[in-house]
Amino acid sequence: MVTTEKTSKIEEVRKEADRLNSAAETADQLMKAITLLLQEKMLKYNWVGFYMLEAGASPPVLVLGHYQGAMTPHTRIPLNQGICGAAASSGKTVVVDDVSSDQRYLACSLETKSEIVVPIFVSGKVVGELDIDSHFPSAFTFEDRELVEYCAQLVGKRLESV
Ligand code: SME
Repeated sequence: MVTTEKTSKIEEVRKEADRLNSAAETADQLMKAITLLLQEKMLKYNWVGFYMLEAGASPPVLVLGHYQGAMTPHTRIPLNQGICGAAASSGKTVVVDDVSSDQRYLACSLETKSEIVVPIFVSGKVVGELDIDSHFPSAFTFEDRELVEYCAQLVGKRLESV
């Protein structure tokens, strides 16, 4: 796909995310809708899911929420494990172009080649994250990162307004 096609695709998906945000009655409904949207429309997004920090857990742990894609053995991830743990504990987006060369990576599927994990904030604190795996190496460009961060922000704002 040439860049201009990808740009317009991403713009279309971003607008659809806005529509889903308006239609969703709860943050939970929005999260489910975003997993469906991203996995269906973004062809390289093979696994799309949310991990949310368990309320009151000590030590903190990420718990798998809505997802689309293959079942994963990683339903609970401590913050000192995985790319998921790294994103939640640093509060920064993590993009891994080649998961086989990242020692933090917790394997879900042998087919996964690259991954992006974007934290979700409520009142400046990480409450969870949006995790996407791809069967293609280096699937997540700067534009993908902006799209996934946009979706994570929509969820953060919905959670903040509860
Ligand atoms: N690969 C993640 C674990 C979750 S699966 O991708 C669904 C990680 O390394 O944290």
